[in-house]
Amino acid sequence: MSETIWFNSLNSYYSDKVGIEIRGQEELIDQEIALIEKSGLDQLAPVETWTALGTNQQLAYATHGIFRYFGKFPPPIATYMISQYTHENDLVIDPMCGSGTTALEAGILNRRCVVNDLNPLSVLLSKVKTTKIAEEILEEKLQYFKSNYRPMTVEEYDFVPVALRDPDHWFLKETSDSLRGIKYLIEKETNEEIKDFLNVIFAATIRRVSRATTQQGRLFLDVATALEDAFPTFEKRYEIGIKGLSELPDMSNIEYYNVDLKDLRAIDYEGIAKLVILHPPYFNSYKYSSVNSLEMGWLAFDRNQYNKKEVKEFFKIGKPENYERYVEDMSIALGNALNMLMPGGVLGLMIGDTIMKGEYIQVTKSLMEKLDSEKYEISKVAIRVPKYTEATWVASQRRDSNNIGITLSDYIVLIRKKKYGEI
Ligand SMILES: C[S@@+](CC[C@H](N)C(=O)[O-])C[C@H]1O[C@@H](n2cnc3c(N)ncnc32)[C@H](O)[C@@H]1O
Repeated sequence: MSETIWFNSLNSYYSDKVGIEIRGQEELIDQEIALIEKSGLDQLAPVETWTALGTNQQLAYATHGIFRYFGKFPPPIATYMISQYTHENDLVIDPMCGSGTTALEAGILNRRCVVNDLNPLSVLLSKVKTTKIAEEILEEKLQYFKSNYRPMTVEEYDFVPVALRDPDHWFLKETSDSLRGIKYLIEKETNEEIKDFLNVIFAATIRRVSRATTQQGRLFLDVATALEDAFPTFEKRYEIGIKGLSELPDMSNIEYYNVDLKDLRAIDYEGIAKLVILHPPYFNSYKYSSVNSLEMGWLAFDRNQYNKKEVKEFFKIGKPENYERYVEDMSIALGNALNMLMPGGVLGLMIGDTIMKGEYIQVTKSLMEKLDSEKYEISKVAIRVPKYTEATWVASQRRDSNNIGITLSDYIVLIRKKKYGEI
């Protein structure tokens, strides 16, 4: 079976360039068969491949392109699951919402949505991406910024980025003064929705003007890309933000999100969601509070407050045997996420395996072995070859020298909560 769904057939909001291609087990190509056999997941359920259709630019519709979030998944993955497993006004939950991809797609498809993340930057992004603000108001505010902005030294405005051990390592002094000048104006804003928008635009500016690379999530110095004056970048990102918000469909008549800031391992919503989309940090991949530490510092979010609670990715430790600790952590998080499902509901777990010291580690399969098969069944496994900047792609670059090409895949494991009669 092979099927292509163009999303304009689901909802007239989408352009005719955005969709998903699904291929069934019998259509897998050799590379995909090799990947799925390595993962051991083919022993658990029927396998499909999912390919998001649309260029990066085409997939940046509405507010998807407002902030470059390393490790987000392509919107069509969320759109497809939402359209397959829910109806209008059903409740979708994304308890590790990252940059809010699920929330935006749920809103476009007129579903209710609850998002959660341990990281306040994630909750802020989700909110701003789904809150319409009139274009005239934002244009007027931009004019105010243009007329009033000036760089400010720390003596003039006493702000330094929070919990950034060495701001001068990551920013030229002129850049810090320029960012302080923008922040000073943001802090004057009294309307909460506008202030949130300004903070997201500010966050979208930070990495681009810093001395850190913009090519990948992890922070490495790339001094040549630093910009002394942050304001032109802020202005450009602001224009993109206005355009993004202007493309949002009306989202005012639905209960859209109800944001929380919690460790998923301590959440106990029960039996309320038709669909849960769970996209955790992968083992041996990104640590999100580190990837976004420059932005969080300038937004005054103290990452030391909660980074210890993040699902551990153990990158620094680099020992294959640590995957057992990751699996234990994730098994608690997954258990709580599954609890949120109503009987018959589906959880889409997006996750990746890893290769360490040349050894393929079946992280996903180990996690699935901990699933309570009395209550849940794995109905399908989809594989997806990731694009550049996605976490699995980054992990696949740490391959041994004999291994050329993408050697890892993202998996989407669909887990269904059985109904009472089936248990
Ligand atoms: C892979 S990202 C999600 C990306 C998202 N799907 C998107 O498209 O933007 C994983 C998220 O899990 C969050 N996270 C890590 N540990 C957590 C925990 N214990 N509880 C809740 N969220 C957590 C991280 O802050 C990060 O935002």
